[in-house]
Amino acid sequence: MILLAVETSCDDTALAVLDDWRVIHSEVAGQDAHHRHGGVVPEIASRLHLDVLPGMADRALDSSEISLSEIDALAATAGPGLIGSLLVGLSWTKSLAWAMDKPFLAVNHLAAHLFSCYRGPGSIVWPAVALVASGGHTCTFLMGSPSDLRLLGSTRDDAAGETFDKIAKLLGLGFPGGPGIERLAEKGDPDSIDLPSPLGDPSDPDFSFSGLKTAARLRWEAGVSPEDLCASLQRVITDLLAEKLLYQAELHQADSVVAGGGVLANRRLRELLEELCARRGLNLYLPPPAMTTDNAIMVGRAALTALHHKPESKSPISVNAFARWTGEELSTVVGLD
Ligand code: KG4
Ligand code: ZN
Repeated sequence: MILLAVETSCDDTALAVLDDWRVIHSEVAGQDAHHRHGGVVPEIASRLHLDVLPGMADRALDSSEISLSEIDALAATAGPGLIGSLLVGLSWTKSLAWAMDKPFLAVNHLAAHLFSCYRGPGSIVWPAVALVASGGHTCTFLMGSPSDLRLLGSTRDDAAGETFDKIAKLLGLGFPGGPGIERLAEKGDPDSIDLPSPLGDPSDPDFSFSGLKTAARLRWEAGVSPEDLCASLQRVITDLLAEKLLYQAELHQADSVVAGGGVLANRRLRELLEELCARRGLNLYLPPPAMTTDNAIMVGRAALTALHHKPESKSPISVNAFARWTGEELSTVVGLD
């Protein structure tokens, strides 16, 4: 099964070709144009996706030495994300699928992050608790199987990545903010600045980061060292994510922990999860750091999972983009019967 997958939910344009679980080609193009704005400008993001997608598809076919007619199915992210950005990748891929008369699968971006390290049946021990921590989302799920995702908790205000981004902007560290905060944190003392841990009780499945963001801003305005502030902020956010996830793992007697999303590039968070999972005998599945952020491999693997489960799986060709996801059950592919 050769599958072409596209991801354009925010500011990265990504395209991948998979031959079942094997990646034949993958490319991600970031958009530097947003850096000077300190955040993603939606119209610029949409236009840049439209500029680069066709060239990316040509390169993918050339380098993987396959012709268009050899592609068996196509997948693209339908949401959640920036509507303009989503519409570009979704319309482009749907049109191609329609013209080729091949099945099209519309993938949920949140679910896709959890498939970054899924390589088919047997590659993850179920049940698992799962964390998606990115610029737009902070959610935990119980995964009974690759097609059974139930929401456990989510943020009531800002996402974890968004908190890093906003404090990084305040400190002039550029966008996205996570890598800059991590770099400075290495030179700071994580226990030097007293910051609150909102909804800090591990048994509370929800997250809240906006009070933390305000407290960090007030400390900054009071004149603390940027290194100490970054180290302390990173400590509080990564502790909250790891402790709440591990509490849920114990509560639901999970065998494994799965995580994805850009914040999982953070070394302290990865080390903390590794240490806590090892201590409790849990399997831990983390994507390599470069695959924690948006990519099309995860979209392809999410679509393949649905196709393996039910080979005739496809979304209606009229499927539309959506900005937000709300609900309890998370469908990896949108619009399946
Ligand atoms: O998953 P992603 O690429 O895009 C969304 O779906 O939002 O995640 C991007 C987010 C940004 O907020 C960025 O600051 C954060 O991931 N991030 C990090 C690190 N690298 C990226 N956060 C903490 N530490 C990092 N090293
Ligand atoms: Zn993402």
